[in-house]
Amino acid sequence: MNKSTRKAIIAGNWKMNKTRREAKELLEAIKPLVANAEGNVEVIACVPFTNLETAINTTAGSNVKVGAENVHFEKSGAFTGEISADMLVELGVEYVVIGHSERRQYFGETDETVNKRLLSAIGSGLKAILCVGETLEQREQGITEEVIAMQTKIALQGTCEKCIKNVVIAYEPVWAIGTGKVATPEQAQDVCAFIRKTIAGLFNQEVADGITIQYGGSMNAKNCAELLAKPDIDGGLIGGASLKAEDFNTIVQAAVNG
Ligand code: PGA
Repeated sequence: MNKSTRKAIIAGNWKMNKTRREAKELLEAIKPLVANAEGNVEVIACVPFTNLETAINTTAGSNVKVGAENVHFEKSGAFTGEISADMLVELGVEYVVIGHSERRQYFGETDETVNKRLLSAIGSGLKAILCVGETLEQREQGITEEVIAMQTKIALQGTCEKCIKNVVIAYEPVWAIGTGKVATPEQAQDVCAFIRKTIAGLFNQEVADGITIQYGGSMNAKNCAELLAKPDIDGGLIGGASLKAEDFNTIVQAAVNG
């Protein structure tokens, strides 16, 4: 299947950045720049919980969608400090990042909890951006594919052919996140193609051909065009470069043209 028939998605992952006032300013700056991407490239801002309402109000009527950066897997109950999928849906949130390596690294996230969060998110009507990626040590040990296959298969356990349409996969090598050390376009392409193959094995070729697979990890205004030109890279999950309207827009435009 030709890449152009898949949905291209550029998503910003703001992490723990921006006050509400700053969030409004950044989104007001992004909106007009990316308006031309409508109908061609999906543009998403994944923002801290405290900025969700501001982001939804600021982007209303525009083509910028809003995502959260995490979600709890239970519907409700004694889980102090957590936010459920239904709470996000009620706010008007459309996407949620699940299994980001920073959550795995610092907050005890495992493949099993990633799976629970993913099922809860899509069960409530959210679209999930599922992050997978190997550490530098794993790459050097030659087990990148094993790690990616395991993370992908466990995360998607219990999903069905229909609901997988609400899942986007982001390949984010841990060693490339926030380090300025981007994967080469070939490295990124190889793993994204491998993820697609894994999806074909889990479901079928049609599902694999239809799923959007992003690359993330030090993607920026300079290196984005080469990465996005690769046949299995359908978009990007952008950290640092999503905090500057011009840089984020350059990446969106590279996807529009790519
Ligand atoms: P980065 O982050 O672009 O700052 O490397 C990417 C991510 O963590 O999603």
